[in-house]
Amino acid sequence: MLTVAVLISGTGSNLRALLEAAADPGFPARVVVVGADRQAEGFAHAEEYGTPTFMVPYAQFDSRQEWGAQLGEQLAVWRPELVVLSGLMRLLPPNLVDEWSPRILNTHPAYLPEFPGAHGVRDALAAGVAQTGASVIIVDNGVDSGPILAQERVPVLPGDDEHTLHERIKPVERRLIIDVVRRVATGELDLAHVAATATP
Ligand code: GAR
Repeated sequence: MLTVAVLISGTGSNLRALLEAAADPGFPARVVVVGADRQAEGFAHAEEYGTPTFMVPYAQFDSRQEWGAQLGEQLAVWRPELVVLSGLMRLLPPNLVDEWSPRILNTHPAYLPEFPGAHGVRDALAAGVAQTGASVIIVDNGVDSGPILAQERVPVLPGDDEHTLHERIKPVERRLIIDVVRRVATGELDLAHVAATATP
């Protein structure tokens, strides 16, 4: 059984989908802990599923480095085999990424490498594209630049605003991350191999 830690910042709707999938006895992974950089709304989902939580409040540290060190200590307590960033709106310090990559994944609401960063949905709308998408990647030390494990296109519809488009992207993200976690758990997807053979 693959053990997974999920890190969030916000509502955690994708986290909830993963918790729901992992509650199925036939699913080969379990969420062992949910962490956040703030008092995230999404903790409520973890509580509902009886999953432990931890918080490392970014605002209480003097630097990203110190915050990341504390986050690393929490992860060391829970020793997950995989970390999923599911709406964690912070860049991790390089030493933490180096420690966990390639066993650390990120979901992103755009078809990477298009529209990386904190405003993937807004940036796609501003660019006036006809379609955007959802991606699941291995986290590396760039901004949403790691190897792509899964992605799918989502059309931009007339009248879309950031909220409506994002809400149409999220179900796709959920499907992709659940499938990626399942494939990692079964060994169908070998993260170390993907990372080693990825083109820079
Ligand atoms: C998701 O769309 C996730 O991909 C995005 O935040 C949302 C979290 O939604 N992450 C990023 O944009 C990271 N750059 P949720 O809290 O409802 O799951």
